[in-house]
Amino acid sequence: ADPRLVDSFGRVATDLRISLTDRCNLRCSYCMPAEGLDWMPRDEQLTDDELIRLITIAVRDLGVHELRFTGGEPLLRRGLENLIAASAALQPRPDISLTTNGIGLGRRAEALAEAGVNRLNVSMDTLRPDRFATITRRDRLADVLEGLAAARTAGLDPIKINSVLLRGVNDDEAVPLLRFALEHGYEQRFIEQMPLDAQHGWERSEMITAGEVMERLRQSYTLTPDTTERGGAPAERWLVDGGPAVVGVIASVTRPFCGACDRTRLTADGQVRSCLFARTETDLRALVRGGASDAEIADTWRHAMWGKLAGHGIDDPGFLQPDRPMSAIGG
Ligand code: GTP
Ligand code: 5AD
Ligand code: SF4
Repeated sequence: ADPRLVDSFGRVATDLRISLTDRCNLRCSYCMPAEGLDWMPRDEQLTDDELIRLITIAVRDLGVHELRFTGGEPLLRRGLENLIAASAALQPRPDISLTTNGIGLGRRAEALAEAGVNRLNVSMDTLRPDRFATITRRDRLADVLEGLAAARTAGLDPIKINSVLLRGVNDDEAVPLLRFALEHGYEQRFIEQMPLDAQHGWERSEMITAGEVMERLRQSYTLTPDTTERGGAPAERWLVDGGPAVVGVIASVTRPFCGACDRTRLTADGQVRSCLFARTETDLRALVRGGASDAEIADTWRHAMWGKLAGHGIDDPGFLQPDRPMSAIGG
């Protein structure tokens, strides 16, 4: 039998996204309420040793070759550098990336690069401090910019910037954000907002679509399709003014890419999710804490992924948002 994480539609999950904590030091309006959420109790979170054991099984036994650490905000997890170093010591050495809001990166970029981070994605929705404070409810744009610069100095490459545009809030910043990224050598990406907010306030008609983003960008730039292999990547990439610079759009809602999905997910409390929008989870923490063998854990993980649904179903009549919000799944 195939030892990998194969699903009933023939997709193979080789990219493991790990949420290290559900906590965050920002409160983005499209993600969480101002008061925050009921955070996961510490004893429910996997310890570093438990996490490293599961990552080892994924890489050694299940054919996972890419790891992405997310949150909440992964920099809030103590010992992140150690987790990364332990992951980088695995054979075959996985590709290691981090998705962060950038706060605290100024101090830590160097150590993260040294520990083995290969690729970095930083969330930044606006270049205007007042708007940043409105969207994230914290006045920290300067910290994010400092973090980006430190990441560059530390040699991390590529560095991608993720932006969600919100109607009437920052939707006039498509061009300024791309211009900033081009000037600094970052890869700009625009993300369609998905129904994963804790407040269940998402409305399709409010969402800025990838089509709208492209229309705005085309007022200042020529965009032509980048024909390099996309694989399972969420971002469609476009050459800017003939290239080599590119801009990405992640059109999860209007142009879903579920058919090529290569992801499996692990939450901070040790649950496998076969999809961002999965209705069920598989409890690996119970196995780990109950004395299961590596082979049993691997089998359970394979079984969990076999049941992955064909797609997110956002457009289905009976669509229900998952119970867990984005911040507890790990984007
Ligand atoms: P790269 O490897 O750099 O392409 O990373 P990425 O784009 O997969 O990861 P990142 O954490 O930067 O996520 C960017 C956006 O893509 C976020 O809004 C994610 O929620 C979204 N995203 C990531 N994986 C999936 C997925 O499997 N399905 C959908 N619909 N969206 C995803
Ligand atoms: N829809 C789409 N993207 C989201 N993110 C957070 N919430 C949502 C949502 N509801 C983005 C963040 C970050 C990335 C990991 O996910 O802005 O860049
Ligand atoms: Fe934090 Fe990310 Fe949610 Fe913003 S989108 S509140 S940075 S977890």
